[in-house]
Amino acid sequence: MDISIVLAAGEGTRMKSKIPKVLHKICGKEIIKYVIEASQGANIDKCILILGHGRDEVIESLKDNDVIFENQPIGDSFPYGTGFAVMQGVHHVNDGDTVLILNGDVPLICSHTLKAFMDFHKKEEAAVSVMTAIFQNSHGYGRIVREETGEVTAIVEEKDATEFEKDIKEINSGIYCFSGKELKRTLTRLDTNNSQNEYYITDAVGLLKNEGKKVCGFRIDDVMEISGINNRYQQYQLNHHKQLEINKNHMINGVTIIDSHNTYIDDSVMIEKDVIIYPGTVLQGTTSISEGCIIGPNVTIVDCKIGHDTIIEQSKLIDSFVGNNSSVGPFAYLRPKSNIGDHVKIGDFVEVKNTTVGNGSKASHLAYLGDGEVGENVNIGCGVIFVNYDGTHKQLTKIGDNAFIGSNANLVAPVTIEKGAYIACGSTITDDVGEGMLAIARSRQVNKEKKNQ
Ligand code: UD1
Ligand code: CA
Repeated sequence: MDISIVLAAGEGTRMKSKIPKVLHKICGKEIIKYVIEASQGANIDKCILILGHGRDEVIESLKDNDVIFENQPIGDSFPYGTGFAVMQGVHHVNDGDTVLILNGDVPLICSHTLKAFMDFHKKEEAAVSVMTAIFQNSHGYGRIVREETGEVTAIVEEKDATEFEKDIKEINSGIYCFSGKELKRTLTRLDTNNSQNEYYITDAVGLLKNEGKKVCGFRIDDVMEISGINNRYQQYQLNHHKQLEINKNHMINGVTIIDSHNTYIDDSVMIEKDVIIYPGTVLQGTTSISEGCIIGPNVTIVDCKIGHDTIIEQSKLIDSFVGNNSSVGPFAYLRPKSNIGDHVKIGDFVEVKNTTVGNGSKASHLAYLGDGEVGENVNIGCGVIFVNYDGTHKQLTKIGDNAFIGSNANLVAPVTIEKGAYIACGSTITDDVGEGMLAIARSRQVNKEKKNQ
């Protein structure tokens, strides 16, 4: 059986954060999820996750993933280190298994690289293989020590390295493949005789080598794949790299992105072809955008579904739906549960919340549509307000098809405006208005001579 053990119990002190390190995000997705997905994509039979610091939060965020959680006890009376972490999962391992060890903070590793690594390890019949790369700046990583023949003899941590060893540019990715039998045997022989008084899993490599077992190095070219995240700067670097890759994939699939360095699209977002994205656009969560839309500049869309050929400019949209051939913005705000139909215009400074707007309707400027049901071909004039809140409850405003709501009208909910009704501008409507009727609810204008004032 192929088993992966993912190490994620560390505190991540260098992140300087209340959030556990592996729950920090890259392009909208938790670091740890990338690692688990890579492991699953490599056809691993069982994925074991070692948790400690922030354990409950990590479990909560991974509850829908097919992984086994193991606890690493944390505290002054317990030892620490990547070796100790592996010990917490090793009871799942049988002698005949192949064990892939992954660092929870190395997120950009690809499943095809993991597959190639495991195939290599099995073919070589090695006791342990370690994935490595050449880093021009190897600071902070374990260094790969090789014999003159090129064989890997040990991994030395930065803090334990001699000046000579510090000059080594080949680094340890923290990704290893072990024969189950050798892993189980070697773990019992690790010690904490190092500068950090920790059990290092890296020591297993030197121990096996000294016993004459086969130790292999598997060097890969793509340094980003095995770059770790220990601080916010490294998080930024990997996020940036991943972002450019996501954007590039969209471009290859037929999306025009005007400035990839200024466009922020989560890993989870779907975009169809012939969409044009202007700078300053942020697309997050479960957002999907259909063919032919023009998005941006400066648009944030979170968890929305956008139909085809719709234009969204300088606006924020959250947890909402927008149909086809509609336009939103500039400067509109769609709050959760806005359901906008086809050929709809939601213009400048219009806020919509929990409201359905039927096909062909327009709210072109300066309006608040909260808790409403607006039919088709309705015109909502400038400055219209759905007065939805009485201080205690939110109430519904219903407007039938083809109704016309004049400028600066207040519709005091609960209220129903039937089909084809006409609301005079400036009215404060507190009573329902029947089909086709004209409602005027404002006092008459009185013009007085100056002397009478
Ligand atoms: C580790 C390696 C180093 C390698 C680097 C690659 C060791 C001793 N060093 O160093 O050779 O170049 O990764 O990124 O292994 N963890 C636990 N329990 C612990 C300690 C750590 O689960 O007690 C987890 C952490 O949550 C993290 C991973 O193990 O996901 C690596 O730990 P970290 O402290 O970041 O190790 P590095 O110093 O980066
Ligand atoms: Ca690390």
